[in-house]
Amino acid sequence: MTSWEPTEAGAESGRLAQDEERELIEIELLLEGMHRLYGYDFRNYALPSLRRRIWHYAHAEGAKTISALQERVLHNRSAFERFVQNLSIPVTEMFRDPSLFRTFREQIIPVLRTYPYIRIWHAGCSTGEEVYSMAIMLHEEGLYDKARIYATDMNDRSLQQAKEGVYGIEKMKLYTTNYLEAGGTKAFSEYYTAKYNSVIFHPYLRKNIIFAEHNLATDRSFNEFNVIFCRNVMIYFNDELRNQVHGLFHESLSHFGVLVLGSKESIHFTEFSDAYEPLDRTEKIYRKIK
Ligand SMILES: C[S@@+](CC[C@H](N)C(=O)[O-])C[C@H]1O[C@@H](n2cnc3c(N)ncnc32)[C@H](O)[C@@H]1O
Repeated sequence: MTSWEPTEAGAESGRLAQDEERELIEIELLLEGMHRLYGYDFRNYALPSLRRRIWHYAHAEGAKTISALQERVLHNRSAFERFVQNLSIPVTEMFRDPSLFRTFREQIIPVLRTYPYIRIWHAGCSTGEEVYSMAIMLHEEGLYDKARIYATDMNDRSLQQAKEGVYGIEKMKLYTTNYLEAGGTKAFSEYYTAKYNSVIFHPYLRKNIIFAEHNLATDRSFNEFNVIFCRNVMIYFNDELRNQVHGLFHESLSHFGVLVLGSKESIHFTEFSDAYEPLDRTEKIYRKIK
């Protein structure tokens, strides 16, 4: 090995470290600016996925650096709004993870049946598929009329679609399979009307659903619930924000209230792990016990 090799490698790694540091500073400034100017707080989102989304949007906007993107986002409201859409990641399905919905139907519905009324919060409901899945399940179990479902998201465009209940017809094959695997007992097509390339879910399913904008990072508790679904949302948060949001859910759940998380999420390793007992570890269903 010649003597200059380690020096070159050292210089290269120094440059890389400086690039990373510069990028981190740019990300922090961008998020700080968005929070102060528009009130949207992404400062405690998990860095790896946030970084990917930022670069994805920067490339889409033709911005060569994050600083250039910041200039655009802070000076142009519609560029900011497009950026929020880009950060929102609204991927969802009806009866997503069918075994969870089957377990909920078999184990939680019998408990809810004993309540005089039921309040359910879907936090981070995206375009509403999860909420309609719940409405269908409650309807089939004869519980819909005594239920109120609160469906919230920070993304107003997704909420608009959720309110309309209109989805692409090509998705119905997967949704029908999920519905049947989740313990559905009817023909899934009974719940919607098809028109051209879309379907619209029947308005009676929306009757007891309240759609509202709510940002888990900045907004407060607004009611007390028997059940909270927050699936595939906190996966994008860092530990600090995850703990903060668990605080919000803990405050918002009644005693013995049920918390349902996404398949890759868990209450363990949060500050609230002792406040819940698992009702089904695999399906990530927890009950508040203190
Ligand atoms: C991947 S989707 C999950 C949808 C649905 N819960 C599911 O599991 O299929 C994540 C949703 O979380 C929402 N979200 C992200 N950060 C949020 C926040 N701070 N407050 C409210 N919603 C948020 C996004 O807008 C997006 O609609």
